[in-house]
Order: sequence, then structure tokens, then C-alpha cells
Amino acid sequence: ALEIGALVDGGEPRADVPVRIPFGMLNRHGLVAGATGTGKTKTLQVLAEQVSAGGVPVFAADIKGDLSGIATPGASNEKLLARTASIGQDWQATAFPTEFYALGSKGIGVPIRATVESFGPILLSKVLDLNTTQESSLSLVFHYARKAGLRLVTLEDLRAVVAYLDSAEGKPELKAIGGLSSATVGVILRELVTFADSGADVFFGEPAFEVTDVLRTDETGRGIVSLLEVPGVQDQPQLFSTFLMYLLRELFATLPEVGDTDRPKLVFFFDEAHLLFKGASKDFLEIVVQTVRLIRSKGVGIFFVTQTPKDVPDDVLAQLGSRVQHQLRAHTPQDAKALRATVSTYPHSGYDLEEVLTQLATGEAIVTVMNEKGAPSPVAWTRVRAPEGSMEPTPAATMTAAVAASPLTAKYAAVESGDGAAAA
Ligand SMILES: Nc1ncnc2c1ncn2[C@@H]1O[C@H](COP(=O)(O)OP(=O)(O)O)[C@@H](O)[C@H]1O
Ligand SMILES: [Mg+2]
Repeated sequence: ALEIGALVDGGEPRADVPVRIPFGMLNRHGLVAGATGTGKTKTLQVLAEQVSAGGVPVFAADIKGDLSGIATPGASNEKLLARTASIGQDWQATAFPTEFYALGSKGIGVPIRATVESFGPILLSKVLDLNTTQESSLSLVFHYARKAGLRLVTLEDLRAVVAYLDSAEGKPELKAIGGLSSATVGVILRELVTFADSGADVFFGEPAFEVTDVLRTDETGRGIVSLLEVPGVQDQPQLFSTFLMYLLRELFATLPEVGDTDRPKLVFFFDEAHLLFKGASKDFLEIVVQTVRLIRSKGVGIFFVTQTPKDVPDDVLAQLGSRVQHQLRAHTPQDAKALRATVSTYPHSGYDLEEVLTQLATGEAIVTVMNEKGAPSPVAWTRVRAPEGSMEPTPAATMTAAVAASPLTAKYAAVESGDGAAAA
């Protein structure tokens, strides 16, 4: 099982009472929540390290390098060792096999791309922040391109098709499609131009990333940790979160059915998950809910990471079997409301959760997990283990060297010239 930490009883950790998630329950998904600076990312690292050590590959977004330390052995000090001893953790500095990826050319990593056509109109509408009318118009454009035998590989390809439909020459075609106004086509075209100018154009193209590349183990049988380097989410929040969703959908489409197994095929950590749901259309949400529900039987476990459970729609939250809730603040009336909303998502317990959730120390959490029988365990105040990889980011030079040495760089670094619509 994954060791999360030890029970805290009357303020003191009980090294003899471990809090765990069985490997076989990881595909029942989970949530790691809490205010900024309360220990979410370290919890994520603790979980990811043990998943890897257990022979299961990991995929996670690495925001501002917070998780990159997993590739470097941790440094110990007296305080750390006192903490780990108190919770029964036999701490050993350990580096985990890591592959770094980057979206297009941003950040240090093997550049990964997707084609516009594989992204599809619904995900692309989320990225472009289109409204429902524009979303269905974009679907019609994709449909038109497919029927006309035009490939949509790059943003340039899509622009070429939209610009054609917007031109005098394309007007008759536009009319023939039906349900597509030239005003909406004009809006989509402008959004595409702005989006490409923001630097997103380098992300769309070929060779497209093969999702099965994240399902690898190293020569000693440990799961490879794939980290998507995201220097700043503010940069392109929609692209980042939608791309993670794209990967999940591709994994779902690619992997065979395995049902419930002893060990999952992959554990996927979805950080800054609120971005996925912000401004999401009905169709987009439907894709998320369906994917989360069905990917379980393909052996993929997803852990969403966000500030409060209320960032996640109820349909999704109901499917998250394990919950690790770090401290919440209660400074403002709004905080207090969010706190009560969070408490309402937990089963009744012996704790006064409204009280406890504001009192948790950094690196402590309220935990409930799925046990072997698939039932939720009682709520437990838990002191979380310390990561055995570094808590500091791995140095940029080390990451650059790892990327240069990766066989995947040879596979993905060079952009293929297109046979898409723009060339036609
Ligand atoms: N499990 C833990 N063991 C030891 N220290 C921790 C642990 N969790 C958090 N910390 C300390 O708290 C800091 C903030 O934690 P972090 O996970 O980055 O918070 P968040 O992701 O919620 O913003 C860390 O840099 C570390 O010093
Ligand atoms: Mg964090």
C-alpha cells in the first residue's frame, strides 16, 4: 500500500497507526486539497514517489518546478529526521526515474505536441474560450474539413480553413454547411490569431505525442515519473489544463480494458484542477465526467489537486475515492463559507471538522481512503510522510542534461513539415 503518514491523536503522531491507500484502490481516484502552502505538492510528491517505487508509472504537471526535486535525492536534517521518526518513516534519500516534458517549446523538457484534429473542436473551444454558439460553429468547421479531406494538423491549417470560409471565394461553401454565420466565423478567426500569437502555435503539430510513452518503467522496474514542466500557469492556463484532459482522453481511447487490478497501469496527478472546470461548456464537462468514470477500468487512477473540493463539480467529486484535505483558512466570511462547504462533503465523524481543518499544521491532513473492500475508511487526522526525493527543485542544468540524453528527444524534437490544410 501507499503510506500516506501516521495518525495524529491528541496532537501527537502515532507511529504505530499508519494511514495508507491500497495500490488496488488507486484507480478509484482521489483529491488532494488545501490552501496555498499547506503541503499539497509535498503530499503529491510523497504519493508519486511510492507509486513509482511500486512499479507504476506516474504522470504529473510540475508547476514552477515544485515537483522536479523528485529526480534528485532529498537532503536530510535533524528536524526532518525527527519528523520522519515520529511517524514511523524509515527515511532514505532517493531519486526517482524522471522524464521531463514541455508544451511546445516552453520550459525544459522533451517538447510534446498534439494535432488540432486530435484535440477536436470541444477541447479547442475550451482553450480558445469560445461560447456555446461558437463551439458548435467550430464543430461544423471540423466536420467540413474532414469531408473536404483537409487535415487539421497545426493552428495554421485551421486558420487556413476558417479564413477560406470567411472569404468571398468560400462564401458558397459556408452557405452549404448551414448553421454557420459569417459573423461567428470572423470571431473564431480572430480568436485563433490571438491564440497563435500568444505562442500556442508551437504546441500544435506533428510528430504528435504518443501517450503510451508515459507508461514506462526503468531497468530496475520502477515506474517512470513523467513531469510536464509548466513554468507558470498564468501563462496559458486553458492550454495547460485542456492538454492534461486531452492526455487522459487519449489514454482512455488507447488503453485496453483491464477492470480492477492489484496495481494500476498509471497514476495521473491533475494539479491546478480548478482551471479545468472554470468556464467549461456542458459538452466539455461531459467529456471530463465520462473520462473520469470510465478510465478506471483501463487501470488509470486520477488525483485532482486543488484548493477546495468545491472547485470540482459534484459529478466528478463523487467519483474520487481517496481524499487528502490539508488546512483551510477561515480569515474572511468567504473562507468560512468555503470551509463549511468542504465539511459538508465529508461523512460524519468524531472530529469537529470545521475546527480541525483550520488547525492542521503544514504537512498534516484529514484523510479518508478507499479500503480493500472499496468502502471509505473513517476520517483520520494524519501527519504526512516526507518526500525522499528533494524538496528543492532539481537544478535546471541537471534537467537540461536529462532531456538531452532522453531517447524521446530524438523522437519528438524535430517538427515535421505539414501535409495539412494550409499546404493544400
Ligand atoms: N509532508 C511534509 N513533510 C515535510 N515538510 C513539508 C511537508 N509538507 C509540506 N512541508 C513544508 O511546507 C512547505 C509548503 O508545502 P507545499 O507542498 O509546497 O504546499 P502547497 O503545495 O500546498 O502550496 C514545503 O516547502 C515544506 O517545507
Ligand atoms: Mg503547490
